Amino acid sequence: MDKQEVILSQDLEKSLTKALEKNRHDKLFILTDECTQQYCLPLTNNFCCLANAEHITIGATDTHKTIETLAHVWKQLGDKGGTRHSLMLNLGGGMVTDLGGFAASTFKRGIAYINIPTTLLAMVDASVGGKTGINFNGLKNEVGVFSPARSVLIDTDFLRTLDYENVASGYAEMLKHGLISNTTHWAELLDFDLHDIDYKLLQELVAKSVRIKEDIVGQDPLEHGIRKALNLGHTVGHAFESLALEEGRPHLHGYAVAWGMVCELYLSCIKTGFPQEKMRQTVRFIRDTYGTFAFDCKQYDRLYQFMTHDKKNSSGIINFTLLGEVGDIRINQSATRKEIEEMLDFYRETMG
Ligand code: GLY
Repeated sequence: MDKQEVILSQDLEKSLTKALEKNRHDKLFILTDECTQQYCLPLTNNFCCLANAEHITIGATDTHKTIETLAHVWKQLGDKGGTRHSLMLNLGGGMVTDLGGFAASTFKRGIAYINIPTTLLAMVDASVGGKTGINFNGLKNEVGVFSPARSVLIDTDFLRTLDYENVASGYAEMLKHGLISNTTHWAELLDFDLHDIDYKLLQELVAKSVRIKEDIVGQDPLEHGIRKALNLGHTVGHAFESLALEEGRPHLHGYAVAWGMVCELYLSCIKTGFPQEKMRQTVRFIRDTYGTFAFDCKQYDRLYQFMTHDKKNSSGIINFTLLGEVGDIRINQSATRKEIEEMLDFYRETMG
């Protein structure tokens, strides 16, 4: 997989002009959703480098991450004169960068694309690392390709207008990066006050977070080994997310991941020796920041089924990423049904 350029930009117009010059193209397309069209596009309206761009807009939120939306983007690219030398600019959150990246990577067998993430989740996770795709057949990110953006331009000024829930959602992935990296970064993340945001400090933490993800993706772009570290909290998190969706009480991805990390840190304590005190400190932060996800023991079966169907598994064994310490990553771990039930008991007792 090609190396991806990730720029932490202080001057978006300058960074974008440079990126567009580097990636020669005959036509430029900007993809937004209804939300970023309204709130983010105006911030780039006077950029000279975007003067001749064609615009494509799709519906906002994960419900539009579909084959129909993808077909709409392909059609717009074709109808508006896109060629294999055209360039796509994805301006939005993870849904736009995932779907736009997939549309670009498949149109005319693949055109280049640039991501400008506008949410915290997209800045520290979705837009970096080349995973693209759509939901299909009721499953999240079921169809897609690994295909890196030519450039990812991160401007944290977009975060100033983001609501608390979306900041907290992205912050869960940052906390995950803290847990898989080192104690100093983990501790500074637990110290950060999400209710009274210091944007300068947040920018520094975002920069560290992105570098942690880049480093891991650089070692294992196609997720054969160490990239599985980025799945910490996601095996249980996806099960919570799916159950919540099925029951008509959906939660933002990062919230589910944070609650999933509570469970997977418990498993880490009992199976790979993660220190209990560090688990308690992390759990306290998660409870204070994200509240809890309510379920009872009658839902254990369903949660277990969701974990069994996770696409990270092989041979029907549920695959976990656990920790022996902060930064001591243990990929390809499994757990028995009894351990998983104990884990869910622990979650309810601690977070209840
Ligand atoms: N979101 C996890 C990864 O990019 O591998």
